[in-house]
Amino acid sequence: MESFTKTVYGEMPDGTPVHQFVLTNKNGMQLKAIEYGGIITHLTAPDKQNNFIDVVLGHDSLEEYLQSDFYFGALIGRYGNRIANAAFELDGTTYELAANNGPNNLHGGPDGFDSAVWNGERAESEDGVALILSYTSKDGEMGFPGTLSVEVIYNLTNDNALEILYRATSDKKTVVNLTQHSYFNLAGKGDILDHYLEINAEQFLAVDEFSIPVDDCFTEVEGTPFNFTMPKRVGADIETEDEQLSLASGYDHTFVIPQDESGLAFVASVFEADSGRIMKVFSSEPGVQFYSGNFIEEGTSGKEGHTYGKHSGLCLETQHYPDSPNRPDFPSVVLEAGNEYRSVTVYEFGAIEGI
Ligand code: GAL
Repeated sequence: MESFTKTVYGEMPDGTPVHQFVLTNKNGMQLKAIEYGGIITHLTAPDKQNNFIDVVLGHDSLEEYLQSDFYFGALIGRYGNRIANAAFELDGTTYELAANNGPNNLHGGPDGFDSAVWNGERAESEDGVALILSYTSKDGEMGFPGTLSVEVIYNLTNDNALEILYRATSDKKTVVNLTQHSYFNLAGKGDILDHYLEINAEQFLAVDEFSIPVDDCFTEVEGTPFNFTMPKRVGADIETEDEQLSLASGYDHTFVIPQDESGLAFVASVFEADSGRIMKVFSSEPGVQFYSGNFIEEGTSGKEGHTYGKHSGLCLETQHYPDSPNRPDFPSVVLEAGNEYRSVTVYEFGAIEGI
């Protein structure tokens, strides 16, 4: 039976209530999300025996999320990923942002959308159960121009997919790059080094020591540890001596996804052999940041007694390329006043015997 519930999850330090929503589809698959950061706190997925377990990393309470540095499950904006030297120019005006990652701006700054309190409500869904989260980012917030009205829909379908639709409009020309920062672990425990990963990318973007794409960044994956064109264990090449892997302490790179006529291209699949769980990702975005959880601190206390560390989960953040506002050679992230930003990503879950 489909259901949707709303309860109080906690209170912000200023007393603002934060609600939690529990979405359940016809098969019993569940998504739990909170208004703080639009965080997906739980997402269950079936194994070969149709056992549903939670496959995302997270914490047990709002207090822990408020202190956490890892963006577990959060919505990311106004600009996901990095902007070099925390500045960009638009129509002759330079916009200064906060440098919160070395000299660069990361994930929209220290008070990005991941730490905003969104407003959640049940949304209409043609197939499944849906939550709409809304947030208005003020003109000048975190240094970005234009009042940006953002809506994100989490739709849990009855064929066990999480569809995410992002929409935004601005009253001034601005830049936008929204994404979702869930860390997946399809075994629900241990690390993700034995998960098989396929990424539909012939190229990735090479970066400098601050994870900013270098000038001549488009790099063929063939013959490198970045070749995931066929399913490969995440850990297979992660220890290889490779400049790009050592710069990021593992995988933390944008892969170039070919555009699909349907508007929704195959991005990646992740398979965990013991459980048979498989997750397929589709998106309208031209890139995906594959992050192998390199910076999760050892001993981080997670949900229900779990302790996390390096590689406890992996992220597949669909998005435009890092530093696009400063890179005329990249697909544009500029949103004109009055136009609509739209982005769709689907995480589809199932179970198979093998690959
Ligand atoms: C990723 C980013 C990583 C790291 C992580 C959060 O999106 O690419 O470098 O900052 O977020 O810990």
